[in-house]
Amino acid sequence: MKFASRIALSAAAATLAVALAPQLMAHGDVTPQPVDTSDLPDIEGGNDVWVARNPYSGNARAIEIGASAYNQNCARCHGLQAISGGIAPDLRYLEPGESGDEWFQERFRHGSVRDGKVYMPPFDEVLGQKAGWTIRAWLETQYTEE
Ligand code: HEC
Repeated sequence: MKFASRIALSAAAATLAVALAPQLMAHGDVTPQPVDTSDLPDIEGGNDVWVARNPYSGNARAIEIGASAYNQNCARCHGLQAISGGIAPDLRYLEPGESGDEWFQERFRHGSVRDGKVYMPPFDEVLGQKAGWTIRAWLETQYTEE
């Protein structure tokens, strides 16, 4: 019984992977949209030295910028309002505070590559730290318990 259901599960996973592949590749071609963060205070150490904790958490202007930056750069995979349609993780569940910041930063900077396939492209070089933290500040306002 256990064995059979495991086979059914992995078959479903394989079907999903095949269905997703062309979509993810198409997504990968979309040009990242620049984000204007000139209204926000600079980050200590500059845009290239990543800090552990989101300096814009709770900052109203950052949240506004982040909402639009998210829509233009992330929503096509993670869904409008951060409500996932199933292609990528639902980012409303990302923990608020520092532990969520750490995981956010890891994915934003480095993306996700598994078995040579790009599941998520890296965004650090194209958007930069300031823009990244605005998105994270907006995401925190969408936080929902799982
Ligand atoms: C091409 C599709 C795509 C785009 C565009 C994309 N992501 Fe992702 N993202 C993914 C996938 C797929 C995963 C899951 C990766 C994995 O599990 O290996 C992921 C994972 C994440 C995670 C970790 C979530 C978790 O619960 O583990 C965060 C945070 C994240 N993305 C943020 C963003 C942000 C912010 C943007 C926009 C700047 C963005 N992503 C753009 C596809 C995408």
